[in-house]
Amino acid sequence: MSEPELTTQRLVAADAGGEERVVEAALRPRRLAELIGQERVREQLALVLQAALGRGRPPDHVLLSGPPGLGKTTLALIIAAELGAPIRITSGPAIQHAGDLAAVLSSLAEGEVLFLDEIHRMARPAEEMLYMAMEDFRVDVVVGKGPGAMAIPLDIPQFTLVGATTRAGLLPGPLRDRFGFTGHLDFYAPAELERILHRSAGLLDVPLAADGAIEIAGRSRGTPRIANRLLRRVRDYAQVRSDGRVTLETAHAALAVYEVDERGLDRLDRAVLDALLVRFGGGPVGLSTLAVAVGEEPETVEEVAEPFLVREGLIARTPRGRIATSAAWAHLSLRPPPGAAGIPAQPLLFDQPD
Ligand SMILES: Nc1ncnc2c1ncn2[C@@H]1O[C@H](COP(=O)(O)OP(=O)(O)OP(=O)(O)O)[C@@H](O)[C@H]1O
Ligand SMILES: [Mg+2]
Repeated sequence: MSEPELTTQRLVAADAGGEERVVEAALRPRRLAELIGQERVREQLALVLQAALGRGRPPDHVLLSGPPGLGKTTLALIIAAELGAPIRITSGPAIQHAGDLAAVLSSLAEGEVLFLDEIHRMARPAEEMLYMAMEDFRVDVVVGKGPGAMAIPLDIPQFTLVGATTRAGLLPGPLRDRFGFTGHLDFYAPAELERILHRSAGLLDVPLAADGAIEIAGRSRGTPRIANRLLRRVRDYAQVRSDGRVTLETAHAALAVYEVDERGLDRLDRAVLDALLVRFGGGPVGLSTLAVAVGEEPETVEEVAEPFLVREGLIARTPRGRIATSAAWAHLSLRPPPGAAGIPAQPLLFDQPD
């Protein structure tokens, strides 16, 4: 009998990501007023929600876009909380057929929030059904096959769609246009991450010194999820090797152990930079080639590593591919070869006579 064994394995596997997920959920701000940073999106969203509440009608559909870990799921939950509405959570990859979507839509309650995570990964036929549902609160359910097939229109309750995507650019225009409000989440400033860290430390009961928070914030790639994760790793270190207090010293020592460098680059970021500089001489190199070189999926390189590297001015995207900037060469303490892409040509010492 292998069944019980399998079950145990599955439980263990589920638990590995489990603690992190439970902690992450516990650290989520629950209301707009609790949210730190993202001032603009917060103000805009507050207006949209307040106005809708005032009219007593569900608000326009909301699209949230931005790199992973900046608070899209958090905001979706906050929207439902602010509206006092129930929320249904699903994701693009879970909707492979129009029928999957029809089932979700027709079972919604009036005014419910439907959170569609990774909306850019939804199947095409479902996408078309969603257009109509968003606009007219109606779906056509096709019954039967072939020439006898019939589309039966079905009214669905007025709902608010909250879509989240790391790739707003991949959404087809007609879908993007049907959202009444788009909130773009941007990376957080170090001071905002410090406030998030102090809040999380309070909730987790971790003694966090001001200099410890500054050190962790500076290495969190502008991302609250990473800040919270590093805080937990530094806490582990402080607990095992020191007195449990997270200070500049423990943060510094712990982050060296976890290979997070002083700019916040982690192993994947450095692998991408290293491949780009050493193997491809600074580029230009195509995304898929670069991804193969670091043994990752192109999506992971593009959505997880690149946005931060681009923002830090370490790499640039050009029509011919990715290139390294002079800051990238400096960061890895390497010297660019003469004529490397992205490096301004050395000016001649003396003007050449014509
Ligand atoms: N503005 C914020 N203030 C405090 N904590 C935040 C904020 N934004 C995000 N967080 C924290 O960061 C974690 C990650 O946020 P969230 O899951 O909402 O990101 P996401 O954008 O949905 O990421 P993904 O694209 O990977 O789904 C949350 O657990 C939350 O605790
Ligand atoms: Mg999310």
